[in-house]
Amino acid sequence: KTGLFTYDSGFLSTASCKSKITFIDGDKGELLYRGYPIEQLAENCNFLEVAYLLKNGELPNASQKTAFEDTIKNHTMVHEQLAKFFSGFRRDAHPMAVMVGVVGALSAFYHEAMDFSDAEHRSISFNRIIAKMPTIVAMAYKYTTGQPFMYPRNDLDYTANFMHMMFGTPCETYKPNPVLVRALDIIFTLHADHEQNASTSTVRLAGSSGANPFACISAGIACLWGPAHGGANEACLQMLEEIGDVSRVGEYIARAKDKNDSFKLMGFGHRVYKNFDPRAKLMRQVCNDVLKELGLENDRLFKLAMELEKIALEDPYFVEKKLYPNVDFYSGIVQKALGIPTSMFTCIFALARTVGWMTQWEEMITDPEYKIGRPRQLYIGAAKRDVAPLASRK
Ligand code: SDX
Repeated sequence: KTGLFTYDSGFLSTASCKSKITFIDGDKGELLYRGYPIEQLAENCNFLEVAYLLKNGELPNASQKTAFEDTIKNHTMVHEQLAKFFSGFRRDAHPMAVMVGVVGALSAFYHEAMDFSDAEHRSISFNRIIAKMPTIVAMAYKYTTGQPFMYPRNDLDYTANFMHMMFGTPCETYKPNPVLVRALDIIFTLHADHEQNASTSTVRLAGSSGANPFACISAGIACLWGPAHGGANEACLQMLEEIGDVSRVGEYIARAKDKNDSFKLMGFGHRVYKNFDPRAKLMRQVCNDVLKELGLENDRLFKLAMELEKIALEDPYFVEKKLYPNVDFYSGIVQKALGIPTSMFTCIFALARTVGWMTQWEEMITDPEYKIGRPRQLYIGAAKRDVAPLASRK
């Protein structure tokens, strides 16, 4: 049954959750979306094809692909009223805080999203949120810069349109570089879904009560923000900046191994992968391609990251504990090279993972066996006792 939890070494973990969407073999370092290896999807498909696959279970043919892309294109604008939500935030608010608020507010705009029994309404909700996330993420970024919001353009594809809304201004039309657009599109694909991770479990648990799907996505964004989860890419870049030079790598490896030091090597380790995270290998290649396109082959942080990876993977501690780079290890470096500010890295993650969240939400609410998630606990508190009168309490 979905929603069953067991108490396991301090974590409430999902004991069993039936799903047909994503398969991970942590020991082999294998990741499949609806049976297709992530490596083949990253090479042969664009992000919207992958979104269609995750939602429908099959890759689209040419006409289905065109129809889906057109549908998404026609839903990229947000209600003008939604823009007013941004002005309630301070300009220096973290964009993830803004995303939690504004995406949650979407639930107030689309009440028909609550009609889960209707497959057409579920598809409309899916299409709406997938289409609007790039617009909202770009607005969250523009708000922090003080620049005006950029309206979406229908002459650009999904990812180029996002980059236009992020980097374009009314004074200068954004001219997409196909190599950089393709790189970001692959980054979206690598982040699209990852079975029952913390934020997806959050969306499933929130959705199991029958809450509005947009409100559930907002809960997923809040969970993803944490540095142990989606916030790791931002934390990893900060860590690399702090290490600064290869000569200091040993000092930080020692800290990561020291049980008395809470420091963890950001971008390393995983709850499921006990081998290379296949997304990390693909992300390293994307990073290499982007830096080459930009003439940054000697990027200091990229070289430092590769040296850190090499040293860590030869260290007995990391070998014994099966700690390998994960999806977040290189993603910060490549996003920085694409001109995306550090504070926006996890928003990019949320943009892409919304496809997985919505797909997992729909799988859960259409499962005839699903019930409201109700984690149980192992009670380790005080035994039953009587209340003493106030005067006699010490
Ligand atoms: C994501 O779940 C998902 O699928 C998530 C995600 C997704 O797509 O949704 O893949 C995205 O969240 C990737 C992870 C991003 N987080 C980080 O990079 C932060 C740094 N990593 C760690 O915080 C850690 O690796 C976790 C939280 C990701 C996993 O930690 P666990 O559950 O403790 O991992 P483990 O049980 O395999 O750890 C084994 C040992 C432990 O030590 P012991 O208790 O055996 O003594 O290795 C240690 C851990 O303390 N360890 C690390 C480490 N990660 C684990 N030691 C140093 N540096 C690290 N990064």
